[in-house]
Amino acid sequence: MIKIAPSILSADFCMLDRDLKAIQTADWVHVDVMDGMFVPNITIGIPVVQSIRRHTEMFLDVHLMITQPERYVEDFAAAGADLLSVHLEAGGPPAIRRALDAMGRCGVKKGVALRPITSPEAILPYAEELDLVLVMTVEPGFGGQSFLPGQLDTIERVREILQRRNPRCLLEVDGGINPVTARQAVAAGANVLVAGSAVYGSGDVPGAIAALRGG
Ligand code: DX5
Ligand code: ZN
Repeated sequence: MIKIAPSILSADFCMLDRDLKAIQTADWVHVDVMDGMFVPNITIGIPVVQSIRRHTEMFLDVHLMITQPERYVEDFAAAGADLLSVHLEAGGPPAIRRALDAMGRCGVKKGVALRPITSPEAILPYAEELDLVLVMTVEPGFGGQSFLPGQLDTIERVREILQRRNPRCLLEVDGGINPVTARQAVAAGANVLVAGSAVYGSGDVPGAIAALRGG
């Protein structure tokens, strides 16, 4: 079963309630947190996650594109995140370990994210305990970029590792996902599809969500 996770980075932040209601036929809400350090862009943080939590019961999938993410796990969990993904490039193994342990203590689901440069094998130390691996299919930082086809190999390799070590772990793709690249990513092994511009940039949000499901 494929999950669709619209990215509210492409929503109108002055109309967030409307834009959250518009994606009710999707499965998750994807929230992109950027700090201007790990990536060049700055987006939103803890208070906005708190507000979103008050306005929707949908599953909040929070993608942390921040340095030292282990410092903020408790705060994002308390704000209402259901799942947190930390980038494996955002700190050394001890920092990632601390972040995952904090997620466990807070009762949020555990995700790790990979930039396009990062080897699929980087997930190996954590594979058994993860709920989700997020494979970036663009360089993180901005919505509206084109899907990097070379990442299909990474998706396949991550799927192989998970099949052996943790078959229940979800595999999410993020960046440049539209109905065409969605099919390619799913064929390679993805089962959670993030899409920002393909959902909010279309005139018909429910239709765009259905198109991503292949319907
Ligand atoms: C990019 C973000 C993505 C972004 C996707 O760094 O992680 O979630 O919003 O946007 P689209 O679907 O437009 O590529
Ligand atoms: Zn994202």
